[in-house]
Amino acid sequence: MSDPASGEAGTPGEADSNTDSSADASADASADASADANTLADAQAKIFACDDVDALKAVEREFVGKQGVVAQLLASISKLPPEQRRGVGQQANALKQGVQEAVQNRQQTLAEARVAADRQGEGFDASLPPPRPRRGSLHPLTQVTRELEDLFQSMGYTVLDGPEIETDYYNFEALNIHADHPARDSHDTFFCEGDGHLVMRTHTSPVQIRALETLKPPLRVVVPGKVFRHESTDASHDHTFHQMEGLVVDRDISVAHLVGAMKTLLRGIFDRDLEVRLRPGYFPFVEPGFELDARCPFCQEGCRVCKRTRWIELLPCGLVHPNVLRAGGLDPDEWGGFAFGLGLSRLVMLRHNIDDVRHLLGGDVRFLEQF
Ligand code: PHE
Repeated sequence: MSDPASGEAGTPGEADSNTDSSADASADASADASADANTLADAQAKIFACDDVDALKAVEREFVGKQGVVAQLLASISKLPPEQRRGVGQQANALKQGVQEAVQNRQQTLAEARVAADRQGEGFDASLPPPRPRRGSLHPLTQVTRELEDLFQSMGYTVLDGPEIETDYYNFEALNIHADHPARDSHDTFFCEGDGHLVMRTHTSPVQIRALETLKPPLRVVVPGKVFRHESTDASHDHTFHQMEGLVVDRDISVAHLVGAMKTLLRGIFDRDLEVRLRPGYFPFVEPGFELDARCPFCQEGCRVCKRTRWIELLPCGLVHPNVLRAGGLDPDEWGGFAFGLGLSRLVMLRHNIDDVRHLLGGDVRFLEQF
């Protein structure tokens, strides 16, 4: 049988009578801990009473802000006897964690309550689709490139890619433009640091050689891509622009094949048949070489686009020079071909009536949003 009297006497009395220094310390610590628990309970009560985010922020600041309760507790540590420091540090951290957790929970509850209130509100329709994310659009150069890739693929061409940093050999030498050749003057070249052996490609034509080296004839390829020239820029010149190279190699290729392919290309671009004409043009990697003009698709009697000539200069082209076929490892007596260099940037400008080439790569969103 228990003795209620001794039991009652046993609780606080015994502790008192057993007092020694270590019991003192633990009594101190537990007093601190309960003070701290009170602080946490106090904080939780305050947090729970908050009805909006601002109030919640204020309570959060009161406890875990720069001058808050936790900060003061931590600041007091240095003045405590060493054996108490650890305990107080832990308490401060526990308080901080407890407060932050409670703030988070309350925040979520408030957010959920707001959504629930909105749902009760007038005009809410749960069956409406969520707002769509804003979509961008393809760059006009990308649009034209993809259209032309489709068109050429439908004619049996393969789309190829090539490096934008080229060797002197592929960019010039193998294309029959030797080191002292005056044609190099027309390509204002960016040379990469070093011995001048690497250049930013000045045209997409080097991929002609790469195609000859890797594919077996007969072959038809197009190569869209960026090219670079060391130019002072103005409305019609930029240091970076886009071309699409075309190369066809087969037996018995003539200028008629070239003209036929170009007319098909024009039909694809302008949606109708356009008259074309060839003027002589000089490029060391074609022989004969031409500038191909098309009837101005925008007027009958001369306009700003065709500079009142009724012809627009569309692309340089020609029959592949025997030296180029040789550089690609082919026998020019057996194989022939034609090549063309379509200016994609110019084509985009024509299509959208853009008067300054620098808009294309200028990155101005107001320009790009129009497409
Ligand atoms: N690569 C030439 C240039 O950029 C254009 C071209 C390509 C000419 C193919 C003829 C044949 O100037």
